[in-house]
Amino acid sequence: MSFARIVVPEVLDGLAADDPAAQRSRLDLQRVHRVMGTRTTVLRALRTLPVKSTSTRPLRILELGAGDGSLMLGVARALKAQWPAVSLTLLDLQNLLSASTMADYAALGWQVKAQVGDVLTWAERGSPESMPEDAPRWDLIIANLFLHHFQTSQLTTLLAQIAARSEHFFACEPRRARLALAGSHLIGALGVNAVTREDAVLSVRAGFRSTELSALWPEIDPNTVHKPTHESTPEWTLREYSAGLFSHCLLASRGADAGASARPESR
Ligand SMILES: C[S@@+](CC[C@H](N)C(=O)[O-])C[C@H]1O[C@@H](n2cnc3c(N)ncnc32)[C@H](O)[C@@H]1O
Repeated sequence: MSFARIVVPEVLDGLAADDPAAQRSRLDLQRVHRVMGTRTTVLRALRTLPVKSTSTRPLRILELGAGDGSLMLGVARALKAQWPAVSLTLLDLQNLLSASTMADYAALGWQVKAQVGDVLTWAERGSPESMPEDAPRWDLIIANLFLHHFQTSQLTTLLAQIAARSEHFFACEPRRARLALAGSHLIGALGVNAVTREDAVLSVRAGFRSTELSALWPEIDPNTVHKPTHESTPEWTLREYSAGLFSHCLLASRGADAGASARPESR
């Protein structure tokens, strides 16, 4: 049984970066990711992508709504052998990237920088750091627990810009389902604070299911999006799928055959 998507502002987004409740909630988020298995879900998806570092330039990766960058750091640790040279930009409303997290990225050989701003401004006006001519698009744009913050009309704009400015895109979002909703109500058992408890429920209610994200992707034939969890267009291959008990993912690759031989495990 499904329920309608409802988007309301999350408590964390209204708190200053140095608010103790916000700081605690961001630490809680790391625990929530461990329970959700987010890092494994992200790794499974990224390992299917035909993305390679070259000797001429690092891979250019943009994470939208990156928070403190800790989730992607775990991904970087696991991927450093495959992707030794990466230039990673972490876009968020707040500057949450600590010196120690930057040092951890540097130790892996990944260059990281924080870009503070609203993703909707990024979508409307473009990045202040425009891409160099030899690489008009990001190799990969990624979003974790982020797209669910936005209303459908905003998502349409955002996904159109992501499609225009990237070679590959991956999002791991809350699954809008009864089990996930029940789990979000029980999240207090992890010892998380009131902000995290409230936002967990709001996140699931604003989450995604079925082919809801694919349906908003540009260039998709609206007559086909109701079909399976895997949709293709001449230019993009899309896979929208459930992962673990609580996550819902969209993996988009430019090129009809991209990643076709290795699909991320889905349930
Ligand atoms: C639930 S947290 C997820 C953080 C991180 N991606 C993770 O999975 O751990 C959502 C993040 O999105 C950021 N955010 C919310 N609205 C935003 C916007 N309009 N533009 C940029 N960042 C935004 C928040 O500041 C917050 O860090």
